[in-house]
Order: sequence, then structure tokens, then C-alpha cells
Amino acid sequence: MAVERHGGNRVTLGEALGCQSSALLDASASLVPWTPLYDTWSVETLRDYPDRQYQALRTAIATHHCLDAALVLPGNGAAELFTWAARDAAAAGSNVLPTPCFADYGRALRCWGATIIQRPMPLDWSAQFPQILPSPGNGDVLWICNPHNPTGQLWSRASLKVLLQKFALVICDEAFLPLVADGDSQSLIQLVPEYPNLVVIRSLTKLFGIAGVRLGYAVSQPERLRRWAEWRDPWPVNGIASAMGVKLITDRRRHRSWCHKVQQWTAQEGAWLLRHLAELPGIRPMPSAANFLLIRAKQSLVPLREALEQRHRILLRDCRSFDGLGECWLRIGFQSPLGNRRITRALQQELKQLPLV
Ligand SMILES: Cc1ncc(COP(=O)(O)O)c(C=O)c1O
Repeated sequence: MAVERHGGNRVTLGEALGCQSSALLDASASLVPWTPLYDTWSVETLRDYPDRQYQALRTAIATHHCLDAALVLPGNGAAELFTWAARDAAAAGSNVLPTPCFADYGRALRCWGATIIQRPMPLDWSAQFPQILPSPGNGDVLWICNPHNPTGQLWSRASLKVLLQKFALVICDEAFLPLVADGDSQSLIQLVPEYPNLVVIRSLTKLFGIAGVRLGYAVSQPERLRRWAEWRDPWPVNGIASAMGVKLITDRRRHRSWCHKVQQWTAQEGAWLLRHLAELPGIRPMPSAANFLLIRAKQSLVPLREALEQRHRILLRDCRSFDGLGECWLRIGFQSPLGNRRITRALQQELKQLPLV
């Protein structure tokens, strides 16, 4: 089967494996395993065109971050906003991608024929977070992800802030930051009013387990966001996604308690998995501040991933699609406590039959 560029292909893999997609435990994507359920939407939400300016949603997001609404632009997932960030980035010059990194930055940059400079990062890191981002070298535009996908490294705000002086444009993807306890203390969002060369992109996909809704937002200078708004299709965020975003963000108490629960889950399940995976022979789990972690081995982990898929109905992320990693790495997205125990049991069983050196 071809290497998927993204995790979360439950339906396709269910068909390939001859089982219901609901029978699969999908740890190849890194979403919170619970979803806030809303049962009905008003007739207006369904019938009317969304507000072209998304004023209610922008205000909800801006109020949450104590910003002016003009600094916020909602998008059809973070992925759509990378496309527009990449258009600016292509015009600004050469783009530095610390690798391995999320493949969608490359996809977005290639849309505009941008020059890409891959900057390999050390493939060993400590369990101390936040970390200092190693020097990304020279270029005009820097793409960073905090915490970093796929390594789970959390960079310090101080180490990122100095880069704003060095690069003409910095695009910082904070899709996973709200899942990390005290993660906001490393966020660059509050620097946006001071730095016209900064774009921060967030996603609601991971935090709320709503990948199917497609909702994210960019925080940057109003002039840049106005330009992007003119380039895009009309109504890129549909009415249901927009109404859901307002609901999820506006109720501060509910939002706070949701984030608290998610952050506790990330910390507890991360520590549990790291400890139990470290006891398994032939693989080494890498420390992560996020809700996923990498495991590595001295030989290919493709047979192990396939055995988990075929015999246990568990999907792990093949890392061959991350430049700079390869077949000796797999990424595991944290699940509920029961799901994580299912993963470690399956790994233990398979590692007995497929011994790794
Ligand atoms: C680092 C990172 N940023 C952004 C996204 C995309 O988020 P969205 O679903 O909002 O497009 C992903 C999805 O896997 C991701 O891993």
C-alpha cells in the first residue's frame, strides 16, 4: 500500500483491511479522543450564507486571546491557511523548513513554486521542555511548529522570539499548543501586534477532536489577513463550522475546563506510554510534550506497523512520509487510557514474534 502523506485514513484502511472503520483504533492521527457533541443547528445556520466577515467567530477568537478582531482570520482548517501563508512566503524569498516537519508546509509552498531549504534537526533530544530551537540557519522565511510535529518538542518562546529579528517572515504553527499544560506561556500570539513579520496559525481540529469540521485560524497583521481574504473562495468556513467555533470558544468556563482535561490527558497518558514503551525490547520511545510520540528502532518498523494493522486493527503513523525520518520510526497518537493499553499490549505481543535487535 502507498505511504499515506497524512494519518487518519480510517475509512480507506478499513476498506483495505476488510473491516468496519469503527473497528480500527486510529493512532495515526493525533486528535483528542473525545468530541464535544452538538445535536442541532438553527435553521438560519443551515439556510443562510455565512457572514462573509465571520465577525462573531473572529470576535470570539480575538476575545479569547485578548486581541483585536482585525488580527484574526478563521480558515477551513489550518491547512487552508498554510496555503495563503505560503503565497506570502513564496513572494518573500527562500523558505527554511526544519526537518522532519509536517508535510503540508511543503504542499502549500509548492502551490506557489516557492524555494524550499530543508534544515535537518538533530534526531535526539532530551525530556526537558521547553527546549531551545537549534539554529535554523539562513533564509528569508522560517516555518516552525510548536510543539513540533512529528517530534513533540516544545520550543521556548524566548528561542523563537529572537528569530523574528532574523527572518523577513516567520510562520508559527501552534496546532498542538493548547493540548500542552501551560503551553500558552510559549505561544507567539501575544507578539503579533508588535511583529508585522509574524503569522501564528492555530487549529481546532486537535483540541476538540473535530477533524471533519475543518476549523482553524490565523493571527497576524490586519493588512496581511485582508489580502488573504481577497484571494480565497467566498465562504471558506461553512456555517456549521463557524457556529460551532463560536460555541466552543465563547463559553470561557467550559473552554477552560475542556483544555484542563485535555492537558491532563496529554501529560498523564504521555508519561504512561513513555514508561511502558521503554520496557519493550527493540524500540525506543522519544520524549514528547505533545499528544503523540515517536518510537524508533535500529531496523525497519514497517513490518511491526503492518502487523498491528492486520492483526490488532490498530493504525500507527508510518514516518516514511516525513523527510528526515524513514522506516525506522513510527508515530503514536495518544488515545484514551484503554486505547493506549490496547496499543502497548499489541506491541508487546508482536515484538515477541518480530524480535528487533
Ligand atoms: C502540525 C499540524 N498543523 C496543522 C495541521 C492541520 O490542522 P487542520 O486540521 O486544522 O487543517 C496538522 C494536521 O495533522 C498538523 O499536524
